[in-house]
Formats: sequence, structure tokens, C-alpha cells
Amino acid sequence: MDPLLAAAIAARDHAHAKYSNFRVGAALELENGQIVSGCNIENASYGLTICAERVAVFKAISDGAKPRAFRRVAICADTETLTPPCGACRQILWEFCGDIPVILTNLHGLTREFTVGQLIPEAFDDSLLG
Ligand code: THU
Repeated sequence: MDPLLAAAIAARDHAHAKYSNFRVGAALELENGQIVSGCNIENASYGLTICAERVAVFKAISDGAKPRAFRRVAICADTETLTPPCGACRQILWEFCGDIPVILTNLHGLTREFTVGQLIPEAFDDSLLG
């Protein structure tokens, strides 16, 4: 199996999803081949929940990865219809990853690939800040 998909599936096991029971894993492949993963982490104050994708991006950036130095991202949830990233995560992926492939997968080996640009057309970004 593609190690990036395997990392997203494995990260899902670490999800702290006691309120929704909806467990998500994400994995980012850096330009140097390193893989950084994340899971969703919920809180009793529901609005503080953070998605798996943002955990992975923020972990990577915090550990010194350079913005736009990512090759691919994979996202895994246990759904028949593959789970795409939420709107907030699309914005974060656009800012830090640019138009890289986004591979969705589930626990049954189904996959579907998009690019970040397909998922967030006409994105707001720093090119508009002047
Ligand atoms: N969630 C993610 O981690 N990633 C997504 O792309 C969609 C939603 C999480 C947030 C929350 O913990 C749970 O899934 C239900 O929304």
C-alpha cells in the first residue's frame, strides 16, 4: 500500500473523537519524502475541535517544514462515500500546500484523488492582500 495512505489510516486510530465518534486521519508527504500525520482532536467545548488535516499541517510547519514544500496529502475516514476536507481545512491546505494532490481513502481501500485547487476554487489568499 502507498505509505502515505497507510499513515493516514494509522493516524486515524489516534483520533480523540469522543463526541462525534467520527475519526479522521491525515498524512502529508513533504518534499524530502518525510511523512507527517494528524488526527482530529475534539473537546467538550465543541468549537475547539481541530480537524486531522489542520493538525498534520500545523505539526509539519511547527517542526520546520517550509510552506509549499509538500507533495501530497491523504485523508482517511471510515465512510462509504469518501470524506473530503472541510472548508476551513481547504483554506489551510491552500495556504500551506498550494495545489497539491489530495487523496481521499476509507478503510475498504477505496480512493479518489483531487487537487487542493479543485476543492477550493477562487480561493482567497495572500495574492489578494496587495
Ligand atoms: N473532521 C476532520 O477531522 N476532517 C474533516 O475533513 C472533516 C471533519 C472531524 C472534525 C470532527 O472531529 C469530526 O470530524 C466530525 O465533524
